[in-house]
Amino acid sequence: MLILGIETSCDETAAAVVKDGREMIASVVYTQIEKHKKWGGVIPEMASRFHLEVISQVIRECLEKANCNIETDIDAIAVTQGPGLTGSLLVGANAAKTLAWLYKKPIIPVNHLLGHIAANYIGTDIKPPLICLLVSGGHTQIIRVDSYTEIEVIGESVDDAAGEAFDKVARLMGLDYPGGPHLDKLAQEALAIEGALTHESAETCRKAPFCYEFKIPEVGALDFSFSGLKTGVLRLKEKIGEEKWQADKAMIAKAFQDTVAEFLFKKVAEASRITNYNNIIIAGGVAANSSVRKRFSDGFKAPEYQIYYPPLSLCTDNAAMIAAAAYHLEPNDLGFEVYSRLA
Ligand code: KG4
Ligand code: ZN
Repeated sequence: MLILGIETSCDETAAAVVKDGREMIASVVYTQIEKHKKWGGVIPEMASRFHLEVISQVIRECLEKANCNIETDIDAIAVTQGPGLTGSLLVGANAAKTLAWLYKKPIIPVNHLLGHIAANYIGTDIKPPLICLLVSGGHTQIIRVDSYTEIEVIGESVDDAAGEAFDKVARLMGLDYPGGPHLDKLAQEALAIEGALTHESAETCRKAPFCYEFKIPEVGALDFSFSGLKTGVLRLKEKIGEEKWQADKAMIAKAFQDTVAEFLFKKVAEASRITNYNNIIIAGGVAANSSVRKRFSDGFKAPEYQIYYPPLSLCTDNAAMIAAAAYHLEPNDLGFEVYSRLA
């Protein structure tokens, strides 16, 4: 079964063809990052306009790459229904509805979160039940995945998303948007400083004037909170002054991302304990972070745990994950509406 997926929930216009929910045939992602860069974040009205400009081209290019004729080869059309930016979602939904109507294909609206989870099924034999940590610019959620179609959000951020916190702290450091990957790179320079120290001097380092620590925020059960952590970094900047801030930036970046990694790990470990699910997947842009990966790989070891990270191209928003999720869902009629938030 070949499904054409369409995703436009935020700032990526994407189309993909996936076979039987597991095999990627083609995927095209057009990102608007460059266009939103100078504003330091996504501007919703602009995002929907950009989607509209490229959506036809992205779908056409994807079908060409897949060597597919929509009329004869595609069995169904899947599209992100929500959550996301309403105007952006509407562009994808209307494109999908038009194609479904024109070519008389079944249409399958897909929950974006179910999509992020399904990204892990592509090219693997991973199966639910599992725990998914979804950490991106828009989401920070722990999701209990009971089956291919049944999921429940069991923990989430009460304020900023994890990626948003990375972007805001990176901005304090004068790094470009989106700042997460730049901050990660900077933090790795600190590793070189730490790596040069012996074990004993690492202890000394912890007390050294260039060594920083942030407190893990206190928040209920499986939830997260990042705004206090971000403010903590801002207060530190004010306290130590510009010169020291510049000199110690790498160490501060490292301390910040280690704290985020520890925070995420602790909550997912607790979720695994509560649910008794030992298969863990991490999705979303922040899954690329080196401290996060290290903490999770060190903390969740086989044979007790299985941990999976999808390749980066499938971690961030794409349409292959939407087509993969749709394989397990029922078609809808053309009258469905998009939604910006989970009910
Ligand atoms: O999943 P994604 O591409 O888009 C959505 O938000 O849906 O995630 C983007 C977020 C941005 O906030 C970006 O700064 C962050 O993921 N990010 C990272 C890293 N790579 C991307 N954050 C920390 N470390 C990274 N290596
Ligand atoms: Zn997403």
